[in-house]
Amino acid sequence: MSEPLTGKVALVTGGSRGLGAATVRLLAEQGADVGFTYVSSEKQAHAIVDEVRGTGGKVAAFRSDQADPSGAPALIDEVVAHFGGLDILVNNAAISVPGTVDDPDADTAALDRMHATNYLGVIAIIRAASRVLRANGRIITVSTGFASRVGIPGVADYAASKAGIERYTLGAARDLGPRGITANVVQAGVMEGGMDTEPEVLEAVLGTLSLQRVADPREIAAAIAFLASPAASYVTGAVLDAHGGYNA
Ligand SMILES: NC(=O)c1ccc[n+]([C@@H]2O[C@H](COP(=O)([O-])OP(=O)(O)OC[C@H]3O[C@@H](n4cnc5c(N)ncnc54)[C@H](OP(=O)(O)O)[C@@H]3O)[C@@H](O)[C@H]2O)c1
Repeated sequence: MSEPLTGKVALVTGGSRGLGAATVRLLAEQGADVGFTYVSSEKQAHAIVDEVRGTGGKVAAFRSDQADPSGAPALIDEVVAHFGGLDILVNNAAISVPGTVDDPDADTAALDRMHATNYLGVIAIIRAASRVLRANGRIITVSTGFASRVGIPGVADYAASKAGIERYTLGAARDLGPRGITANVVQAGVMEGGMDTEPEVLEAVLGTLSLQRVADPREIAAAIAFLASPAASYVTGAVLDAHGGYNA
């Protein structure tokens, strides 16, 4: 039976865990051939590959460190060589390094790595992918509600890295629209088992949400899958809030 993404090739960055893994599963379920990246979770990456192949899906994992933007062209070449093309890019991989701007003991090397991973690395992947994305291609960048309204202390660097890549994605919508390629942002909310489950972050954020609960990663993956689907053909340059009503 034909699924909405049959015949499409997707690349999900950071597919070994959390939202990325949920997105790999869902896009494969909807018929796409799915490549995904990871950097250190080799065992988890292989487990996702085995799981999706076990359900009849076509999937492959690629080790690629997004903190090194020079690796992006080789990654895209590998994906295209493996699957024969590229239709959907999901920019999901990111890290979160907390800390206030006046912290005298700030781990600036870790903060620099975060900016490289969340911003420069994503730009490099969008640049490389946009050269090969086929007509009706999709770019979907995962961001956070903090990119629009910071809301809590200690996340200035993280919020800035995400706000930057949001604007870059919307710029891509303008540049690539004439080729029929859409580019959108999904602002994710706090998720079960994700990067922001330290009790202090949860406590600070939960009270600000209309829904007053954390998300199942599959609820955010559904928003990504919508933007990847034929149903979203006229949606571009949009920021879709999937964060439980943080801005309501
Ligand atoms: N979790 C939340 O509450 C929350 C809230 C709002 C927005 N978000 C956003 O949602 C997205 C997913 O978050 P998550 O919580 O699912 O993350 P996560 O569970 O921490 O997983 C991060 C994924 O990114 C990969 N990754 C990290 N650094 C990488 C690098 N240098 N190169 C390649 N891959 C790298 C990881 O690979 P390895 O497994 O190999 O390390 C992993 O697959 C992120 O963009 C995040 O900013 C999350």
